[in-house]
Amino acid sequence: MTEHVDTADKGANKEMVELLQGAWRARAIHVASELGIPDLLTRGEHTVAELAELTGAHAETLGRLLRALSTFGVFQRQADGHTYSQSPLSAVLATEPGNAESTDARFMAANWHWAAWGDLLHSVRTGESSFEVANSGVPFWELTKNDPDAKQRFNAAMNAVSQEESAGVARAYDFSGVRTVVDVAGGLGSLLAAVLTTHTEVCGTILERPEIVPLAEARLAKADLAGRYEVVPGDFFERVPAGADLYTIKRALHDWDDDTIVRILEQIKEAMRPDSVLLVIEGVVDEESDQEALFRGLLLTVLVGGQDRPESDYQTLVDRAGLRVVRTIPVSDDLRILEARRD
Ligand SMILES: C[S@@+](CC[C@H](N)C(=O)[O-])C[C@H]1O[C@@H](n2cnc3c(N)ncnc32)[C@H](O)[C@@H]1O
Repeated sequence: MTEHVDTADKGANKEMVELLQGAWRARAIHVASELGIPDLLTRGEHTVAELAELTGAHAETLGRLLRALSTFGVFQRQADGHTYSQSPLSAVLATEPGNAESTDARFMAANWHWAAWGDLLHSVRTGESSFEVANSGVPFWELTKNDPDAKQRFNAAMNAVSQEESAGVARAYDFSGVRTVVDVAGGLGSLLAAVLTTHTEVCGTILERPEIVPLAEARLAKADLAGRYEVVPGDFFERVPAGADLYTIKRALHDWDDDTIVRILEQIKEAMRPDSVLLVIEGVVDEESDQEALFRGLLLTVLVGGQDRPESDYQTLVDRAGLRVVRTIPVSDDLRILEARRD
């Protein structure tokens, strides 16, 4: 039998090899970031031997890693063959406060994150998170509560993304008449800080897991908001601070399954006055969603068993909790504010 491979098939084979090796490339980038090489090269070029010395790495293997990375533009290999400088792509990974790409790289570089993706098959077979299976039975929320390094990596990554989009939320919604806000599961406080900075008549409260409270307090202390906020430790399954004009919950519902989301929304409803307003702020997936949004959605499943949903699903869940969506406000391509009121 003669084997026939036409040009188109060869092209597809090559493309598939590149896709399959994408995992290796990503891992190589993680490792270079983890060793702090983008930061070292920000201060000037270095030889492989110097970088190995500075990072405690095995020089020959580090050289091969950097050479491989430089083939697709991460780091610039100099003509002498053993000196490297920063490239536009590697500069993106340098650590600067609030740099979403570098904090994301550190989040993805953690072995527990990588291990969870390694067990994606479990998620696809069961619809559940693969995190626990891949990490000796420890769920994501336990690890990010008890392990200081995991806690730091996760919250820094969340905060960097949140910082970028929170200013957009503060601008997109009309806060006239609002005096008190409770941001449920407010993370390190970037949304509350953006709202309080933009709307100086507003005071706010963050409800967060107790272990996150000191991080949020430290972050908010850097903003010029003294006396206008408090960070309350608690659990949104048990109690949400009562009586505010406005409640917000941003990118926190997507971590849970439908029934659990309804339970969280019911707790918020319990805390609301008859005239309080709730803003559900979530990324939505629809027919227009791009590759990045779709893979971010898979990440939610892998880590915590959550998912991004179409806007209509959030409306249904809000409805099931006895609230009513009165309008939707777009913030960016994927981010939506669903304004909900009590019936
Ligand atoms: C994906 S992060 C979003 C944080 C923030 N709203 C933002 O937009 O960056 C989800 C947040 O939910 C918080 N969280 C998880 N379980 C919680 C609970 N039972 N009670 C209160 N907060 C919780 C986490 O600590 C985390 O900060």
